[in-house]
Amino acid sequence: MIKNKNFLKLLDYTPEEFNYLLDLSAKLKKDKKEGTEKKYLSGKNIVLIFEKDSTRTRCAFEVGAMDQGANITYLGPSGSQIGKKESIKDTARVLGGFYDGIQYRGYAQETVEILGEFAGVPVWNGLTDEFHPTQILADFLTIKEKFGKLEGIKMAYLGDGRNNMGNSLMIGAALVGMDFKIVAPKDLFPEEELIKKAQEIAETTGAQLTFTDSLEEGVSDTDVVYTDVWVSMGEEEGIWKERIEKLLPYQVNSNVMDMTAKNSIFLHCLPAFHDQKTVVGKDIWEKFGIQEMEVTDEVFEGSKSIVFKQAENRLHTIKAIMVATLAGEI
Ligand code: CP
Ligand code: NVA
Repeated sequence: MIKNKNFLKLLDYTPEEFNYLLDLSAKLKKDKKEGTEKKYLSGKNIVLIFEKDSTRTRCAFEVGAMDQGANITYLGPSGSQIGKKESIKDTARVLGGFYDGIQYRGYAQETVEILGEFAGVPVWNGLTDEFHPTQILADFLTIKEKFGKLEGIKMAYLGDGRNNMGNSLMIGAALVGMDFKIVAPKDLFPEEELIKKAQEIAETTGAQLTFTDSLEEGVSDTDVVYTDVWVSMGEEEGIWKERIEKLLPYQVNSNVMDMTAKNSIFLHCLPAFHDQKTVVGKDIWEKFGIQEMEVTDEVFEGSKSIVFKQAENRLHTIKAIMVATLAGEI
């Protein structure tokens, strides 16, 4: 269905294509667990370009490719000519001649769009400042596993509503007919233009998209609570103070979870600032005098949190993207 197609942003996908990827992910996950996985990518060569750090996305592409019989090259932020001596357009044409597929994680969405235009092989967006589309497949597979469906599921995303996660969850929710709420200060709602595009999709699927700065309106009786870091990779360290002031009222803590549906779950794309016992985030906590940020340790470690199941699903969903775009229907 999507053989040879790029995976650059969810706006480029129809509900049917998106649901096809979710079904394929579930199948590949089952096959792997049962020891019956077939290799659909034998002999394929894949290059992974990372201009920003990664644990989950890089490892999901590497293990997914290896499980499927493909070979991988990793290109990190230094050590290649990319973006320094050589333009992205030229890089695309060079790598497109060597490889069957290209993953890119970096800053501008425009960069991955140029790669996609000129490579001549499928290009996959592993995160840009604007979108993180592979993450959404893992999130929605996790929700579907829990509730058995996506249509009509109530989801509240708390925090920075205009970062790559807020933007991508909104488009994903529109594609599958969810009842989705961005719960954030008004100036951190997604850009008007993107909201308009999401609403156009929602009209065709029956999705409900709500934007509210009221915590109570946002999370009451919701099935899924989702949050992300308050300052994303590539943003200025200097904005921490302002973000903490704005977003502390939207922290996911036990009071928030108490307002949700009985069977609700907590999701986070990770990495998360939550563990006061480790050095992660300690410098920020000390500097700004707060102990906890987007999610409390209590919620993160609590019974509603299924973030590590969600993280594992990055592998199965990223594998599905590679198989669907390189091997086609299986
Ligand atoms: N969620 C996610 O993309 O994690 P990484 O930054 O570790 O890839
Ligand atoms: N918004 C976060 C997501 C990390 C997976 C970031 O871009 O840093």
